[in-house]
Amino acid sequence: MLIQVSDSGPGIPDNIIPKIFEPLFTTRQIGTGLELASCKNIIEQHEGTIQVLSKVGVGTTYSIRMPKKVMTGKSITA
Ligand SMILES: Nc1ncnc2c1ncn2[C@@H]1O[C@H](COP(=O)(O)OP(=O)(O)OP(=O)(O)O)[C@@H](O)[C@H]1O
Ligand SMILES: [Mg+2]
Repeated sequence: MLIQVSDSGPGIPDNIIPKIFEPLFTTRQIGTGLELASCKNIIEQHEGTIQVLSKVGVGTTYSIRMPKKVMTGKSITA
C-alpha cells in the first residue's frame, strides 16, 4: 500500500533533508522536531518505509509504503 501526502509549501533545502527524521531536529520557532521522527518510528515498527521528495519553492511529497499483512491480533510492543 502506498500513501502519498503532498504540499505546496516552501520545500526543504537539500542540506536539511538528511536531518528531518532525527528526533528533536527542527527549523521552526515553535516546533518539537518529534513529528517526523515519530512517524518514521511507527511506520518502521510496522515494516513500512517513508521517503521524502522536496523542491524549494515548489513543495514536498512524503511517500509511505506499508506491506500487505494478514492481521494476527498480535500487537507490536516497543
Ligand atoms: N512539508 C514540509 N515543508 C517544509 N519543511 C518541512 C516539511 N516537513 C518537514 N520539514 C522540515 O523538517 C523539520 C522537522 O519536521 P518535524 O515535523 O519532525 O518537526 P517540526 O515540524 O519542526 O515540529 P513538530 O514536531 O512540532 O511537528 C521541520 O522543522 C522543517 O524544517
Ligand atoms: Mg512538523
